[in-house]
Amino acid sequence: MGDILGLGVTHYPPLIGLDQNMAGILKTVLRDPGLPAKYRDPANWPEQLRREWGSDEGKTAAAAHRAELVRHFRHARNVLDEFRPDLVIIWGDDQHENFVDDIIPPFCIHAYDAIETKHRQRDQSENIWGEGPDTAFRYTGHREAGKYLARRLLEQGVDMSYSYKPLHHSLAHAFLNTLVYMDYDRVGFRYPVLPFQVNCYGRKVISQRGYRASLGHPLTDEQLDPPSPTPKRCMEVGAATVRAMRESPWRTALIASSSWSHAFLVDKHYQLYPDLAADRRLYETLRTGDYDSWRKTSLAAVEESGQQELLNWFCLAGAMEELGRKPDECEFVEAWAFNSNKCFAVFQA
Ligand SMILES: [Fe+2]
Repeated sequence: MGDILGLGVTHYPPLIGLDQNMAGILKTVLRDPGLPAKYRDPANWPEQLRREWGSDEGKTAAAAHRAELVRHFRHARNVLDEFRPDLVIIWGDDQHENFVDDIIPPFCIHAYDAIETKHRQRDQSENIWGEGPDTAFRYTGHREAGKYLARRLLEQGVDMSYSYKPLHHSLAHAFLNTLVYMDYDRVGFRYPVLPFQVNCYGRKVISQRGYRASLGHPLTDEQLDPPSPTPKRCMEVGAATVRAMRESPWRTALIASSSWSHAFLVDKHYQLYPDLAADRRLYETLRTGDYDSWRKTSLAAVEESGQQELLNWFCLAGAMEELGRKPDECEFVEAWAFNSNKCFAVFQA
């Protein structure tokens, strides 16, 4: 029987860049002509946002945010190394990268033999590690485990997609960033990887290319795409995944990778800061293992709070509920000026 480790992390793109650019998404929103003039003035912002923005457009607060995230990533890496997985499954979203207009699967297992990839164009400038745009990242895939998992999911009534090679992008940033952050000290990451795509962006995956819409020009229902899978369905898929991997020969680490509420998806805050209240509520139910509250969360609520990417975490929550586990450790990392709140969780084997 395969032991299972559960981890929750983030793939927050600005961590690749320099601290002075960490508030870059906020700066983009501030340049949006649709932003009411009143909100261009920090004096009209919530106090915590103003404090992080400070007198240097967030640079000082960014250093502290980085330090906290890196501390969590180093810890997660230690936990992973102690577990010695045969296989690392990552639940991550595809933001109009590998999957574009020709197909959007609700879920897809990338059963690759090997992975060779580079940072996205927009993440390539001023890399904190000094890595240039040609830097290639190579990982071992696990086609055999991917085929096994797809089969076992299909047998459980989950109509699972799979692929043996990339379509439009060698690896979506949700997966690559997770791998490079889990190897923040660049000692190497040798565990075989099985990326498990979740269509988190749903209505906004093609219409907004998995990103933001200009303020003042929200897309109409007709312009938006069909929705993502529901939170409840993601939990069912997570539970079915854990049943499959528990019966497999492989020690499996299950990693959910995403930040929580994303400011650029929260129009009620003019995209300036994330939905802290919604994240805190959900965090509290994660901490206490109240998975029923997770299951009852509607997709509409997820979308309204800019928590689309949390569907990756719903997969993990369903998996851990199936194992009867609460988090052994979890911590909520609040951020106002840096687009998203983050959460880190460890569910020991
Ligand atoms: Fe993402």
